[in-house]
Amino acid sequence: MKFFIDTANLAQIQEAHDLGILDGVTTNPSLMAKEGIKGHDAVMKHYVDICNIVTNGDISAEVVSTDFDGIIAEGKKLAALHKNIVVKVPMIKDGVKAIKWFTDNGIRTNCTLVFSAGQAILAAKAGAAYISPFIGRVDDTGWDGMELIHQLRQIFTMQGFKSEILAASIRNSMHIIKCAEAGADVCTCPLDSILGLLKHPLTDIGLAKFLEDAKKFA
Ligand code: G3P
Repeated sequence: MKFFIDTANLAQIQEAHDLGILDGVTTNPSLMAKEGIKGHDAVMKHYVDICNIVTNGDISAEVVSTDFDGIIAEGKKLAALHKNIVVKVPMIKDGVKAIKWFTDNGIRTNCTLVFSAGQAILAAKAGAAYISPFIGRVDDTGWDGMELIHQLRQIFTMQGFKSEILAASIRNSMHIIKCAEAGADVCTCPLDSILGLLKHPLTDIGLAKFLEDAKKFA
């Protein structure tokens, strides 16, 4: 399973990259706004800055148009910024049409805001490189987000769909472990959830003891 970081914060991206386990980055308009980035040029520069930190992984950059022509125009500009940019397109009717157009024209896409198997099947048929089911937001509604990952894994493997299942809206470290069990191809996570994987009290206790004992033969 590939690890992406789900943020537009450059310091967090750098920290995850320095850990040596980062395979890519996903952003969205809310995450960009959180960083206080304002204006078209600043947004474009920010994507390039991210690409310059994570030089060997895919970077998802999201369109904000909702009509076919607008999505295509915006997506072309985003894709031209860097070879690693993947155009993130919402799961709407014009979005599906646009994903097919991008696929036919050699531009890779990430279909976002996916909440059902039906939506994922449409995105896969249109040729999306990545499909992003939002686990945490499904959980928020009282349904089981992880069940969706299991269902997509079964369908995609059975049908031979090439799209990668990119588990998004990750809220904690256990989500990451469960995604690995469920066979997600990619998990995009906040930095805290990634770093949470490091933690175990027995590791801390064991290390303290080792360091104490090491003093005996120093
Ligand atoms: O990748 C999508 C993700 O950013 C959404 O997460 O926590 O806003 O549901 P969240």
